[in-house]
Amino acid sequence: MLKFPKDFVWGSATSSHQIEGGAAQDGRSWSIWDAHSHIPGRTHKGDTADVACDHYNKYKEDVRLMADLGLKAYRFSISWSRIQPDGQGDINPKGIAFYNNLIDELLKHNITPWITLYHWDLPLALQTEKDGWLNPEIADSFAQYAGICFGHFGDRVKNWITLNEPWVVAILGHGEGIFAPGRKSKDEPYQVAHQLLRAHGKAVQLYRGKYQTAQKGQIGITNNCDWREPLTNSEADKDAAQRSLEFFLGWFADPIYFGDYPQVMKDRVGDRLPKFTKEDIALIKGSSDFFGLNHYTGLYASDVDPDADVQNEVYGNGGIFEDQYVQLTADPKWEMTTMKWAILPWGCRKLIEWVSNRYGNPPLYITENGCALDDKLENGEVKDTVRKEYIEGYLAACHKALQKGVNLKGYFVWSFMDNFEWAHGYSKRFGIHYVDYTTLERTPKNSALWFKHVIADNGFEL
Ligand code: NOJ
Repeated sequence: MLKFPKDFVWGSATSSHQIEGGAAQDGRSWSIWDAHSHIPGRTHKGDTADVACDHYNKYKEDVRLMADLGLKAYRFSISWSRIQPDGQGDINPKGIAFYNNLIDELLKHNITPWITLYHWDLPLALQTEKDGWLNPEIADSFAQYAGICFGHFGDRVKNWITLNEPWVVAILGHGEGIFAPGRKSKDEPYQVAHQLLRAHGKAVQLYRGKYQTAQKGQIGITNNCDWREPLTNSEADKDAAQRSLEFFLGWFADPIYFGDYPQVMKDRVGDRLPKFTKEDIALIKGSSDFFGLNHYTGLYASDVDPDADVQNEVYGNGGIFEDQYVQLTADPKWEMTTMKWAILPWGCRKLIEWVSNRYGNPPLYITENGCALDDKLENGEVKDTVRKEYIEGYLAACHKALQKGVNLKGYFVWSFMDNFEWAHGYSKRFGIHYVDYTTLERTPKNSALWFKHVIADNGFEL
């Protein structure tokens, strides 16, 4: 029996844009993702999140399903454009009411809310009128919005995540352009990442200065990272794997834990990497009470010649990877999910140990982990054995890391239910609950029934 520590946080996660729908309901304005997905060709079959899982209208039913599962914590995000339709200034009371109702419903069922303030759905006005994350002023707008949330919800919400996966905003939104706002650039990812870090820092400063003592909560950031395994034992490949991790996770975590970008990024990106001012460092260094980590998969990394044309299989040759001179490859023998992401539990263990060693063993939460499969609902049942095995394998890896002393405090399955998987639309199913997109009916998959026992037993038999 693999037992987890007492008080281990067993959770599941979603995000506003991916599940809520109600896109034009009760004063919500468009976000950059509404605009992006309404442009033909940007998402699978032109899917949009106008309705999604209709969680905005079905939240009570969803909380009941969470209670059935025995979930201890639920991580969800707030739609900034529901709270401040213009991204600044006026507050929409109906937006506040929706999240108040959701929080109260969760607490009624003894489920602890974990709020992400920004999960990629920037109010469109901030993009079209202000240049979004490229504009240094956005840190103030974000802090203003965060303050509204702390003020209205912080009496009951004790766990705050400022940003979800800023890497994705920078690389997929501003480097490759496959995510909103759909910009392709070699330089913008670095500029945007810089403003995301500053915005995070300002929100944390506000929370600590004005709310934390009275509300007694914790605040942090969630970063994502895949594992990078050296392709060979050569020093060059080992360095390439390390470099790849520093360009991925170190990019965002080093400023927070050490006060600056990794040296290897400074060396390789040169003047294209913005520099922190003293004020920025004061804001950002030490600005996370815990380490939030989203993790799914991994790849081999090998060193390449700076003159070579790097053809990364996963994100394309979008430019920014050229700065790293790392080639990423998969082993054809690895089992893949429908995202074509390899199932590599050992990579999870190595990554969390890497994080723990590099950043001084901070309190760590896996704020997302899960997999997309080709699920079928047949006679009221979804036999998602691979998902159960995936979660089991990753949890066993977490358990090994715990035994080595890693300070892992919680685990959130992505996702509570099938939802709008960004550019992939509804074609990828990550949920432990199946959603029929015609009837919007939810059905617990077999993985959910298994996870319920894991939560109840605080562990599982391997
Ligand atoms: C990370 C993101 O935070 C989430 O929005 C997404 O659906 C999952 N990974 C799966 O790709």
